[in-house]
Amino acid sequence: MMDEKKPGRDWPEKLLFWFDGHKRDLPWREDKPRNPYHVWISEIMLQQTRTEAVKPYFNSWMEKFPTIHDLAEAEEADVLHQWQGLGYYSRARNIHKAAREMEEKYDSSLPDRKEDILALPGIGGYTAGAILSMAYGQREGAIDGNVLRVYARLYQVEEDILKSRGRKEIEGLVNETLPQRAGDFNEALMDLGAEICIPKNPRCSACPLAGECRAFRNGKEKELPFRTPKKPPKEEQAACGIWIEEGKVLLHKRPGRGMLASMWEFPMVLAETEEEARKGLEQLLHGKAVDFLWHYKHIFTHRIWHMKAYPVEGASVPEGEYRWFTPEEYREIPLAGPHARLAAFVERIVY
Ligand code: ADE
Repeated sequence: MMDEKKPGRDWPEKLLFWFDGHKRDLPWREDKPRNPYHVWISEIMLQQTRTEAVKPYFNSWMEKFPTIHDLAEAEEADVLHQWQGLGYYSRARNIHKAAREMEEKYDSSLPDRKEDILALPGIGGYTAGAILSMAYGQREGAIDGNVLRVYARLYQVEEDILKSRGRKEIEGLVNETLPQRAGDFNEALMDLGAEICIPKNPRCSACPLAGECRAFRNGKEKELPFRTPKKPPKEEQAACGIWIEEGKVLLHKRPGRGMLASMWEFPMVLAETEEEARKGLEQLLHGKAVDFLWHYKHIFTHRIWHMKAYPVEGASVPEGEYRWFTPEEYREIPLAGPHARLAAFVERIVY
């Protein structure tokens, strides 16, 4: 028969004891007391990006924009440039907008009331909980993927944790179990989720909560959390044009809305097949695109671009936001994700 025993009431204390001895040294954890601006920026950066990859971005961000005031005063292009490579650029745009709002309404600081924080662009329940608990010592949960996974195993929650029923169940459990040291507890859950209670092959033999964990006791730690299988990403063929004249390369500014909004790219046509994309590029630039010089598969969350870049000859510049840039100039503008990679390639072969 399935064992129904729940984790003991004191497991949060056990987790905090473990955290006190094992917490990771991370740049945004160095301030005592914690700096709310540092907590905010690191949490946004960490939302879609691995901790190791975030560290250099966080440090260089704080050199460039040491305070919320510096950030509010910066140009959006500089903010996006500083973000370049982290992906999901709406995060950077929202950070910038939020900084301007804080400058106006809150004397360039982060508010400490939940409803005020939640009203800022780009700050949802998770980030608000993280800031309030870590920077302001409030008893708030911060439920991210790590926390969902840890609770799903600990309490053997069998629902899909990304659907509302599973999520609600876990929210209820988090509210019941959250201790006074909520900030440390939230970070302890994150560290446990990142190092021990990892998605595949969890390291239960090193886990301070193995004795409490219902999934472990029932041999279900690898099956949980349950996830409904995802739709496969949409795959598109992308033909990009490399057109260089007098040391300058032609780039296009993407529209202000949608994917990679307002970022610069090599002239590009997306299509279902490679040939359609190539022909589309020839039409766009009124020239010949014959042999590709570069190819790359870029994987976004819901989309894959199979990119090929062609030198283009005999072309004319299309209508719209097209401009010529030297390498020195395009290093200063935000390039759209994989196009920064293509720019680096072009620089290697041409300049
Ligand atoms: N992932 C998200 N937030 C984090 C934090 N504060 N520390 C470590 N990993 C995290």
